Amino acid sequence: MTYNNIITVQEKNAYIITINRESKLNALNIETLQEIKKAVLSVQDNKEIRGIILTGKGTKAFAAGADIAEFANFDTKQGTQMSIDGHSVMNTLENSKIPTIAAINGFSLGGGNELAMACHIRIASENAKFGQPEVNLGLPPGYGGTQRLVQLIGKSRAIELLITADTINALQALDYGLVSKIVPIDNLIDYCKELINKISGKSPSAVAKVIKCVNQHFESTKTGFEIENIEFGNSFGTFDFIEGTNAFNEKRKANF
Ligand code: COA
Repeated sequence: MTYNNIITVQEKNAYIITINRESKLNALNIETLQEIKKAVLSVQDNKEIRGIILTGKGTKAFAAGADIAEFANFDTKQGTQMSIDGHSVMNTLENSKIPTIAAINGFSLGGGNELAMACHIRIASENAKFGQPEVNLGLPPGYGGTQRLVQLIGKSRAIELLITADTINALQALDYGLVSKIVPIDNLIDYCKELINKISGKSPSAVAKVIKCVNQHFESTKTGFEIENIEFGNSFGTFDFIEGTNAFNEKRKANF
């Protein structure tokens, strides 16, 4: 299958998806997200593939968020739909029978970090940086960030990051439990492949069952995802949203 925004390659038991929008810091436009979803679904019944690695092209960014230029003029209806469709992509990664590993090779911001958090495992390069800067744009996160960040690092740290838009480095992310390992950027993909080799010695059906059971642990929080869809959509067209997205485009600080 050929894609416009991602590169996919199978290397032995690993399926590597690379977001290929380096000049835009791998910002996630809607088509990119749909391509990631399609790629993940396309290998679910491939018995050779024992792990999926998701990474970004280049050495600067995993993904610097949803594509602000694309959604800046959306209205509430389009914003809500964007969030619902984004959740579906994240759920596809989270519910993949084949383990998904985010190989975070730089900025992991906003929707990019939400994408990383939807993966089963996160491995960071030493230069990786993490954050949820949506409040700078007059928005809450819309791709599950308000829920998965709490799941991964706890409520206090999650709320602090979500409302300050602070960026943390790889060491802090490791300390918070947002990532499970830091490796030099040149070893990032090889390390993820080694992880897949290790997993490939285990029962694939048992691995799929573990993923299903662990995901079930968070089922009771599902309404939080629905509220996020609504509140994300409600932000579109507000003064804060217009000011935030204009400020980004004009490369200045928003004045709320
Ligand atoms: N959406 C759309 N375009 C984006 C983007 C995003 N989320 N993040 C970066 N880009 C684009 C920039 O507009 C720029 O494009 P241009 O060269 O056509 O002007 C290009 O990627 C390079 O980004 P730039 O801002 O010049 O790089 P930098 O090194 O100065 O700053 C960041 C890097 C990550 C700090 C900065 O790009 C940024 O703050 N991005 C937005 C992060 C964000 O708010 N994400 C959440 C979105 S929901």
